[in-house]
Amino acid sequence: MRRTIIAGNWKMNCTRADARALVAGVVVAASQRPDVEVLVCPPYTALETATAAAAGTNVGVAAQNLFWKPKGAYTGQISAAMLVDLKISTVLVGHSETRGRFGVPEPDFDEAVLRHFGESDETVNRKVITALAAGIRPIICVGETLAERSAGATDVVVADQVRKALQNIDPAQNEVVFAYEPVWAIGTGEVCAPDEANRVCGVIRQTVAELSTQSAASSLRVQYGGSVKPDNAADLLSRTNIDGALVGGASLNAADFTAIILAAPV
Ligand code: 13P
Repeated sequence: MRRTIIAGNWKMNCTRADARALVAGVVVAASQRPDVEVLVCPPYTALETATAAAAGTNVGVAAQNLFWKPKGAYTGQISAAMLVDLKISTVLVGHSETRGRFGVPEPDFDEAVLRHFGESDETVNRKVITALAAGIRPIICVGETLAERSAGATDVVVADQVRKALQNIDPAQNEVVFAYEPVWAIGTGEVCAPDEANRVCGVIRQTVAELSTQSAASSLRVQYGGSVKPDNAADLLSRTNIDGALVGGASLNAADFTAIILAAPV
């Protein structure tokens, strides 16, 4: 039996005061569902505040990213040791908003900047290795773009991202979580149909079975992310291959995030 894992990715939202207020709401919801693992992922600037607000509760705090170098002249980056220093034990890696090719011209300049921070499968793999070496559990985000889906390449793209993220890592020896986040479903209000989301989460599990052991694949938790809302959460979370949700927009509203937590199957 895999424990449902519901995480709120706050992205670039929330001051420390916002974080305190939001965690206070999430704590109440999480206390009603000790069977569910509940996480919030604040921006770096609010990690310490969120951790203090969640102390002594069953809400965990995760970071949104890390860099693989231990220290040095890497302006703007955060190392694994810095996260360990804040007692952070989970980190998102490879979110689609950080993947892509920086500088590729796109018609919408904002999109080119916001969605293309230059993350590649190789940097994702380095970050996964770095996190695990520091005792931090990675939540590895994978997912296809609309163009890849339209070309019928979803399964190939997703399985390839899983394989490359796990290069030189055995998921039988290290706890990793995957989040299937189709790029076209993120922030668009267009959720992936639950049957299809369940099917692709199954592709991720199958890929892990091929890379490692059947038992590692059976215990692997795979979240779905992309426009998860109170009105679609129960349907998604009831599916056999979907073990949780990675929630963006709706995690910024305590009532909505509460409803999603409570929607987890008992
Ligand atoms: P939305 O829930 O806003 O679509 O964002 C999903 C996401 O990117 C979570 O990491």
